[in-house]
Amino acid sequence: MKVLGITDGITCGAAIVEDGEILAAVNEESLVRLKMAYGFPRQAIREVMAFVGLQPDDIDLVTVATNNNHFFDGIRAWDGWFQRDAGSARNTIFMLAGRAASLAVIPGVEQLYYTSRSPIFAQRRRRIGAIVAEEFGIRAKVQFVNHHLAHCTSAYFTSGFDNALVISMDGGGDGDASHIYTVEDGMFRRVGHTSAFHSVGNYYSYVTEVCGFKAQKHEGKITGLAAAGEPKYLDLLDSLITFSNGQLRNNGRVVFAGGIAAIEKRLPRAWRREDLAASIQIHCEDLVVRYVTGYLARYPMADLAIAGGLFANVRINQRLAEIPGIERLWVHPGMSDAGLAVGSALATCMRNRKALRMAPRKSVLGDVYLGPCYSESEIASALSENGLEYSRSSCVEKEIARLLAEGYVVARFNGRLEYGPRALGNRSILYHPADRSVNDWLNRLLVRTEFMPFAPSTNIEHAGDFYLNVEPARDSARFMTVTFDCTDWMKSTCSGVVHLDGTARPQLVRKEDNPSYHRIIEEFGKLTGVSTIINTSFNMHEEPIVCSPQDAIRAFRLGHLDYLAIGDLVVKSPEPIKHELRSMVQGRRPATATV
Ligand SMILES: [Fe+2]
Repeated sequence: MKVLGITDGITCGAAIVEDGEILAAVNEESLVRLKMAYGFPRQAIREVMAFVGLQPDDIDLVTVATNNNHFFDGIRAWDGWFQRDAGSARNTIFMLAGRAASLAVIPGVEQLYYTSRSPIFAQRRRRIGAIVAEEFGIRAKVQFVNHHLAHCTSAYFTSGFDNALVISMDGGGDGDASHIYTVEDGMFRRVGHTSAFHSVGNYYSYVTEVCGFKAQKHEGKITGLAAAGEPKYLDLLDSLITFSNGQLRNNGRVVFAGGIAAIEKRLPRAWRREDLAASIQIHCEDLVVRYVTGYLARYPMADLAIAGGLFANVRINQRLAEIPGIERLWVHPGMSDAGLAVGSALATCMRNRKALRMAPRKSVLGDVYLGPCYSESEIASALSENGLEYSRSSCVEKEIARLLAEGYVVARFNGRLEYGPRALGNRSILYHPADRSVNDWLNRLLVRTEFMPFAPSTNIEHAGDFYLNVEPARDSARFMTVTFDCTDWMKSTCSGVVHLDGTARPQLVRKEDNPSYHRIIEEFGKLTGVSTIINTSFNMHEEPIVCSPQDAIRAFRLGHLDYLAIGDLVVKSPEPIKHELRSMVQGRRPATATV
């Protein structure tokens, strides 16, 4: 059974899933070059169909994960809303207002939107059916999947777990901010949920706005900023959103503008955004840990699988991995609503397991290189069209490692685009990890404001040399979804990637996931003694990660980067700058360390 999964909300996208296996997944933002592009994912559908080589008749079902509120979904289906910048104030207000209004959804009515043939409830399904039929020739039936069920199936069916507690948490979707399921051998049983009115994620967004950033877009900056502040406002936040009697409670009785005003009103005149960031971060961590621990006490499970925008917060994920009794934590790599296309398709495979005569595969996700790729002739002609000279490397990985060891910045473009928010070596900017100042000058070149240092990529077999307590989140960390406390060896050798609080959010690289990237790090290790490099996403300020060779060339030039290694071809900038590096090897190397 071939399922076309769609999400048409924030960071919309499409995926092809066959009998539970993800064959292709891409988000519209990569193709239309608009961060968090919002609306019907026309280009993404074309891309995944072409990539898998499918004809319209090959699609057996179209699935759509619903978003926010069914009434508002009807409005959003208008073309006028498509492709808007999700970070715009108008859209932010629209989305959060939609969540508030979703409280009006009466229990039981939701099901009608999924199944009823009545025009009142089936309008949006029919509209999507008409778009896919008229524009793509796909005549398959359209099915809706609940927002949080889609998050949860995306988590479970990629985790490799047999039995697990599966949790979604986000700002809100379909009237809820969280669903909790116990899953035994693929059988989902919902054991709890939290209404979007009591959303912790929304409070994180309110604080993001209060601190002068954009809600729904810049929450990661707050996570980074938190390490520089003192949690002075925990009581203030606890008076608004708290945990009592086993449930999350919005005591502020406010949403969006009211939530922002409630925080501002309670803050002292002289407040620092670092302190407010530290407060919301710690408060959120505590609330989420108490919420999850409460369900674990009632439904004891050793394995935890999670998805939803709140789990883009790498520090919260670290706290969950550290809960006593948790043996494994799995964070779905496309944890935000960008992953709902995959999630809805997996949910549909689960529902149709009898027809499939099998459960969807619940194998651990191999890799997430599920997006577009380009042939060498396409790459070469893009370079020529842009007047760039290049050389072909006999071993591009060795050459990149040498350039990094010498202190150059290398932009790496290789193979298929990553699914999910992180660049994982195929669309990444690479650099030496020993230079603390890189976080200033490279961010300046890329016109970025970040408060968290760049992330490291470490070959997984050396993870124990660099990070503490890796085991519970070892698999998840292949996708840069969790922070770890760093070893002294890491702190002394890789100061460019260690945060003020002594943590880092690494990508642990397995050879079988990305042999080329693994080789680069291995060769770098041979030259420097350290099997870790800096990996930051290959994009300019507020732009999506580069997708095509043209995008890569543009960002390479705008960012004044030193080298572009695109496939086996290497382009040298007119004036590469060799950055001064202090000695890599400092402090005492752990006795167990291997290169
Ligand atoms: Fe969501």
